[in-house]
Amino acid sequence: MDIQKIRHDFPALAKKWNGKYPIYFDNACMTLKPVQVINAMNEYYNEYPVCGGRSLHRMAKKVDENVTRSREKLQKFLGASRPEEIIFTRNTTEGLNLVANCFDFKKGDMVLTSDREHNSNLIPWQVQVRKKGIRHVIVHSNPDNTFDIAGFEDLLSKSKNVRLVSMVHTSNLDGYTIPAKDIIRIAHDHGALVMLDGAQSAPHKPMDVREIDVDFFVLSVHKMLGPTGMGVLYGKYHLLEEIAPFIVGGDTVSDTTFEGAKFLPPPEKFEAGLQNYAGMIGCGAAVDYLNRTGLSNIEKHEENLNRIITSGIKDFPGLKIIGPHDPHMRGGIISFTVDLKKGGDAHDIAIILDETENIAVRSGAFCVHSWFNYRKCEAAVRASLYLYNTEDEARKFIDVLGKTIGLFN
Ligand SMILES: Cc1ncc(COP(=O)(O)O)c(C=O)c1O
Repeated sequence: MDIQKIRHDFPALAKKWNGKYPIYFDNACMTLKPVQVINAMNEYYNEYPVCGGRSLHRMAKKVDENVTRSREKLQKFLGASRPEEIIFTRNTTEGLNLVANCFDFKKGDMVLTSDREHNSNLIPWQVQVRKKGIRHVIVHSNPDNTFDIAGFEDLLSKSKNVRLVSMVHTSNLDGYTIPAKDIIRIAHDHGALVMLDGAQSAPHKPMDVREIDVDFFVLSVHKMLGPTGMGVLYGKYHLLEEIAPFIVGGDTVSDTTFEGAKFLPPPEKFEAGLQNYAGMIGCGAAVDYLNRTGLSNIEKHEENLNRIITSGIKDFPGLKIIGPHDPHMRGGIISFTVDLKKGGDAHDIAIILDETENIAVRSGAFCVHSWFNYRKCEAAVRASLYLYNTEDEARKFIDVLGKTIGLFN
């Protein structure tokens, strides 16, 4: 991987703020965009900015061709068996909500999640508890935040009506990846389906939905170099056929009468109204970029940077890394709590890093408030890495972080 060459593709890395280039370590939230994605979207806006799916003129056909190509690229990227299993959404949140709202849950059905879910894979289930009377049960992690597979299996064998296991694949809290294949096998053996929240896994490691046999998989393309407000829901085709559409209207049907509608098959029945065609086309360009670079290379690169940062942080008094100690188990994420002698909290650290050296990190509860509340812990700092980050940036981060906490110790 030629990092310097990669960096040239990202215009945001070349823009100085306060006379300094940014060190962007907030990739778990949103990644930067390469020129290849920006150009693909600009081409749409400049040359054929029209609607797809309906009109028969040549500009509309060009939209259709390019959207179809993007869908096929995502199909191959995820290892899905057919392009119709790829539903374009706005983000991971929308994919999770679609399944939570449209899956045919009955009163008393159980849904299992982990104790470290992003609010987007927590609140939809709390809503269904009230709406449909489902039971939402939490599977607690081991003390080191790894997955308790024995506890999970035990829970499944004691509970008769688990319909769905919906879990974060790679955690945005600490970068830990659950043993998805084993979890899916055990869930299937007990008659439950599995949905994985792939927001933090799909951008960073190779995924093959058929190999792990997952039933639903959701992701956000804006966390993998793609346009903002673009995501994907993958579902096994027969399941997508069975579940009801979420938002309905134009382009989801082949015919209507005053009384009823004839829905189209997936993916059309889920993609209602005029779409973000530029975004869909940009998704294809993002996938091309990741394929060219190679997800295994990206994974190794992030782990190397994580090692540098972890070994620097572990000697800093008052900072405690969340999750397993071994960086190999935390991919490209380093989150740490802050307990300094003279005060100063996670937000203070984040603001000083930004103000002094343009280092962008995240501070707070990362939308996993429930995990923090359960441990009576308020906030943490998170550095999250991607393919364009360098070893020099990792060392600089440690240097500036050391000086910053020195102000409070
Ligand atoms: C693990 C995880 N799940 C879900 C989400 C929600 O993603 P989005 O806001 O793109 O819907 C995020 C965003 O940070 C995430 O990290």
